[in-house]
Amino acid sequence: MAAGSPPPPPPPHFVLVPLVAQGHIIPLVDLARLLAARGARATVVTTPLNVDRLRGVAEQAARAGLPLEFVGLPFPPAGSGLPQDCQNADMVADNSQFLPFFFALRELAGPFDAYVRSLAPRPSCIISDWCSPWTAGVASSLGIPRLFFHGPSCFFALCEIMAVDHGLLELIAAAGDDERHLVPGMPVPVTVTKATPPGLFCYPGTELLRREAMEAMRTADGAVLNTFSDLEAQFLEGYEAALGKPVWALGPLSLCNRDEDSTTSRGKTAVDGKQAIMAWLDEQAPGSVVYVSFGSVARKLPKQLFEIGHGLEDSGRSFLWVVKEREAAAPEVREWLDALEARTAGRGLVVRGWAPQLAVLSHRAVGGFVTHCGWNSVLESIAHGVPVVTWPHFSDQFLNERLVVDVLGVGVPVGVASPVMIFDDESAPVARGDIARAMSALMGGGAEADERRKAKEYGEKARRAMEEGGSSYETLTRLIQSFTRSED
Ligand code: UDX
Repeated sequence: MAAGSPPPPPPPHFVLVPLVAQGHIIPLVDLARLLAARGARATVVTTPLNVDRLRGVAEQAARAGLPLEFVGLPFPPAGSGLPQDCQNADMVADNSQFLPFFFALRELAGPFDAYVRSLAPRPSCIISDWCSPWTAGVASSLGIPRLFFHGPSCFFALCEIMAVDHGLLELIAAAGDDERHLVPGMPVPVTVTKATPPGLFCYPGTELLRREAMEAMRTADGAVLNTFSDLEAQFLEGYEAALGKPVWALGPLSLCNRDEDSTTSRGKTAVDGKQAIMAWLDEQAPGSVVYVSFGSVARKLPKQLFEIGHGLEDSGRSFLWVVKEREAAAPEVREWLDALEARTAGRGLVVRGWAPQLAVLSHRAVGGFVTHCGWNSVLESIAHGVPVVTWPHFSDQFLNERLVVDVLGVGVPVGVASPVMIFDDESAPVARGDIARAMSALMGGGAEADERRKAKEYGEKARRAMEEGGSSYETLTRLIQSFTRSED
């Protein structure tokens, strides 16, 4: 520094507050790592259980000298009726705990307020999940700028704001189950129904949560999205116009992961067997394996698992299927899965628990992904050039499917009629034949199949977006600059 020149401004400090669900924590932790790697300071505020799960990321950051830390606020609050370990949506025992869990999260506002007040200097910006609107009061009372992170596709986010602005949610609520409604103001025609609504909080009992989230959205200083402009340019433009605030498209955030950190950053440590999974994939022909996984939340009943298993077997394709620990807990399920693996020996592998999804999707043997259309899974697949079979289960997933199939052309639908399936939902239709059919449609067309070609093209564009000079890279540069305090 030349004598007399002013010292450089201190790096901006971002406090990131994900919703405490794996599919929301993962992208914000990736963003926090990116911010720290690009010269900002980042703190992720969550619950103690999640801090513990993210220990690997914290240790890695410390080794690299990155200013990234994790803070756990006490949760669940006394009197919530939730068990002590219920600190992440994947710990919610059943449907009856789901609403109490969401309402208990609002109680984090007090501890969060105390935590932010204890910081000197105050953070430069709070980035909090759209589903964590309780951060809004803290930010405004302390005069701290706040951005909201909207986890799903921009296509969904735009549908949602259009639906709200045009009173469509009320119309849908009053309409019959099968009535189809056109979402007004979309650049492409999109129809929705009661079972496939354009809103995250559209379930009975969540009206207050939706009002709070919309209010926090309106009063925020802008939005952060996990997408990139070559993928969703027309929707990003529409969303920014509808919101009337800056929209920062920073994705695909998962591409900040290198192979060695692609498992720690996913926030669960139970990826024993990664080596065995990768060794099994090494033995498979390029592009031959279908990866089958339904994210971190949805849970299926044994009869539904059996149908999926039969579908995979009947397809005749190689498959790597992730069955959640709780789904595979019952002895009859364990035995059935063992028998399936024996019948499909060499071409079928069942992972019980949690797979190293990024490592799997980037393996050359993987040629397709049967997904529930959680946005992280969809975007991770696209970022690795892998086309998908779509089987949405709930919330934003139906509209993510429309984007993937109708707009981007990188997916083939299973075509099961709108299940609403979060936990052990008896009403969810089962789909043995549908799964096998969709897998054949996706994998049978050879290397030139349209979906495969388009997925590869988007995969290349995704990588370019995250490289220096790419749209997401440069948008992140501007975001950091805009919160860097100039010295007075
Ligand atoms: C939730 C909602 O379901 C989804 O609709 C919303 O868009 C985001 O939040 P989730 O159901 O967990 O997400 O699905 P998804 O968005 O796909 O996120 C799952 C994440 O967990 C992905 O990043 C995936 O890589 C990771 N994962 C999942 C693993 O690393 N291993 C696994 O075995 C399963």
